[in-house]
Amino acid sequence: MKAIAALLTFATAVSATILWDGRFNNYTSAADFDQWSWSNQVGQYQTYIYGNLHGEKASSWLTLGSEYKNPATTAEKQGVKVKINGSSTWNGGPMLRTELLPQTTNSLTGHLYFHVSLQIPTVNPPDPAYEHQIVFWEGHYADIKYGQLSGQNGVADTLQVITGGKSIWSVQPVKGTWYNFILEVGSPGGLWVSTGSSSLQKVYSGSLNGNGGTDWHIGALRLPLNGVTQQITETDFWYGGIYVEDSGPTTQP
Ligand SMILES: *[C@@H]1O[C@H](CO)[C@@H](O)[C@H](O)[C@H]1NC(C)=O
Ligand SMILES: *[C@@H]1O[C@H](CO)[C@@H](O)[C@H](O)[C@H]1NC(C)=O
Repeated sequence: MKAIAALLTFATAVSATILWDGRFNNYTSAADFDQWSWSNQVGQYQTYIYGNLHGEKASSWLTLGSEYKNPATTAEKQGVKVKINGSSTWNGGPMLRTELLPQTTNSLTGHLYFHVSLQIPTVNPPDPAYEHQIVFWEGHYADIKYGQLSGQNGVADTLQVITGGKSIWSVQPVKGTWYNFILEVGSPGGLWVSTGSSSLQKVYSGSLNGNGGTDWHIGALRLPLNGVTQQITETDFWYGGIYVEDSGPTTQP
């Protein structure tokens, strides 16, 4: 039995296929994001959600660099700094948004593992008084959020994962620390988390109420608060280690 179990583990480990690779190895600089359009769907990301009222481009809000990735990751050369400010209204607002979505012909649906690492930086961190939706599917069946949830009290400086309307993991985030996540969609589903270079552990078993999909947003969406005009200078989030695999999962960040 032990030998069979070992073989099965080995078979699982070697059979994982990366269905979409959102690491930024094929990008020279953020200007490459500007090549994407609905009529020219190149690269690994769709880049259409950002403030553009004053002629800004995707690269006005996104910066690539080795300093923006988890230093523990070896399979990527760089990560991305995602910025919003008071000019980040997209499609008339009132939310402030800069987001990246997968560009792929794969449907990214099934029992899959969506990987993402993120950091709340020490410089230009988000204001905890506002709800920030930072990793989510358009259907909002599983979201990573930071800050005071809109219409609620008492959980301001909190990084959390929410599915089915309930928080399944939360922490008061340490700025400058890398948080690694795997959102396991489909069945059985679950959530895997670690910090820094530690192996990801399954911290929640159960459905994330969704099947994956390509309408997966990574970045910054800041909700308005009491209808107040949001004159902010700069808020940043850093991301790396973004990819989707069909088995495993790979638990090294
Ligand atoms: C990166 O570019 C190479 C060369 O064009 C290509 O073979 C590879 O598939 C690209 N990688 C991704 C993740 O698209
Ligand atoms: C907001 O960011 C945009 C894009 O980088 C920049 O053009 C603009 O000057 C910034 N606005 C302020 C008030 O800093």
